[in-house]
Amino acid sequence: MNKKSFNLSNSSFIPHPSALIPSSSLAVMGCSQLVTLRGVERGPRAGHAMRELSIIEDGAMLVGSGRIIKVGARREIEPLIKGDCRVVDAGRRVVMPGFVDAHAHPVFAGTRAEEYEQRASGVSYQEIAKRGGGISSTVRRTRAATLDELVSAGRRYSDWFLRNGTTTVEAKSGYGLTVEDELKILRAIRRLDEETPLSYVPTFLGAHDIPEEYRARRAEYVSLVTEEMLPLVARDGLAEYCDVFCDEVAYTTDESRRILLAARSLGLGLRVHADQLSLSGGAQLAAELGTATADHLEHTDSSGIAALRASGVQPVLLPASVYALGLTRYPAAREMIEAGLCVVLATDFNPGSSPTVSMPMVLSLASTHMKMTPAEALTAATVNAAYSLGRGDELGSLEEGKRADFCIHDCEDYRELAYFFGIEHAHAVYIDGRLAFNRQATR
Ligand code: NIG
Ligand code: FE
Repeated sequence: MNKKSFNLSNSSFIPHPSALIPSSSLAVMGCSQLVTLRGVERGPRAGHAMRELSIIEDGAMLVGSGRIIKVGARREIEPLIKGDCRVVDAGRRVVMPGFVDAHAHPVFAGTRAEEYEQRASGVSYQEIAKRGGGISSTVRRTRAATLDELVSAGRRYSDWFLRNGTTTVEAKSGYGLTVEDELKILRAIRRLDEETPLSYVPTFLGAHDIPEEYRARRAEYVSLVTEEMLPLVARDGLAEYCDVFCDEVAYTTDESRRILLAARSLGLGLRVHADQLSLSGGAQLAAELGTATADHLEHTDSSGIAALRASGVQPVLLPASVYALGLTRYPAAREMIEAGLCVVLATDFNPGSSPTVSMPMVLSLASTHMKMTPAEALTAATVNAAYSLGRGDELGSLEEGKRADFCIHDCEDYRELAYFFGIEHAHAVYIDGRLAFNRQATR
């Protein structure tokens, strides 16, 4: 049984450990730390609860039919190993849930390495966009690419995600900006979900930029999004969420509201790129609409944070985009945690502002630059991220009945994931209880 054949309505099915262990069963033993992230209550973790990882030292885990059957101390699991149950020796390494990357733009053509060089010589991201580069340059290349070409580029990145311990990726469209090209990107995301081990959660981002041909008639493009693109996306079930880039350089709060309300009326969940480059009212809009998430938030002030708290919106923080743009203003993660928000961390993987798929790198940036503890960062990158995507009952922690998406990292202590930065920590990655990536042992 693989990720595609799971019926989410069966998610409450928890086999009793003494029941017949399926032939596909697996016992993971020899964990230095089994980082379960089992919470006291169901739901995303707020405030100081983000520091509680529920680690089992010398823990072990039994998996069957792609699900977690039991998690516990080695002596509790050992007696359950029977018959042809395969034993995986973690070799005194950390075992934890796969990362859930809740904000990424992983389907695009080409790169922007030439703009990276320009930024290195002092030209800003906004200046490059004004000169016709930035998102527009990726839009031109993505429009010219075929569906197969996009899938093939996406497979490469899918492999990178896996090698870094990520098992679920939220994937936005947004580099097409025509009916046909936005649908092409969403179809590429669907194919990546079907054809690679990773799980993708599709998000429609037709309002990522105002396409060049519509700059003098923006309202017409907003109508194209609400009246043509969104109904087709909803009809074909191509996206679960709708996102909008709400910022001075992109969509106003009024335009964003129009698009998000249209998406909601078609049954899509909502996310917003908010206050990334300026304080432009994105967080306030997210709070007003009660979106699932408000993402970026580099410029959000205390009143925006209070508004997010009051309406239960999860902030998705993207420190790799601050780093890669050479900026210094990181979002106020500490203030958000102290205010009781259920903070999420993600890569924002895209060819412009954040060309990285590495969640361990994001953990490092979160601890070094946003002063999140490594434990808070890990919670933000797993269980809180899963809840932000409506997958909290399935993913994000190692608990009985959840999907067996987990990673063996080549370290003894989970804090090393953030501490040793710039390396690939993942030693082996399992999705649905099946080995999806395995690195040659180096010790
Ligand atoms: O999240 N802010 C808008 N979108 C992306 C950047 C996309 C790009 O530069 O291609 C972001 O940072
Ligand atoms: Fe983004």
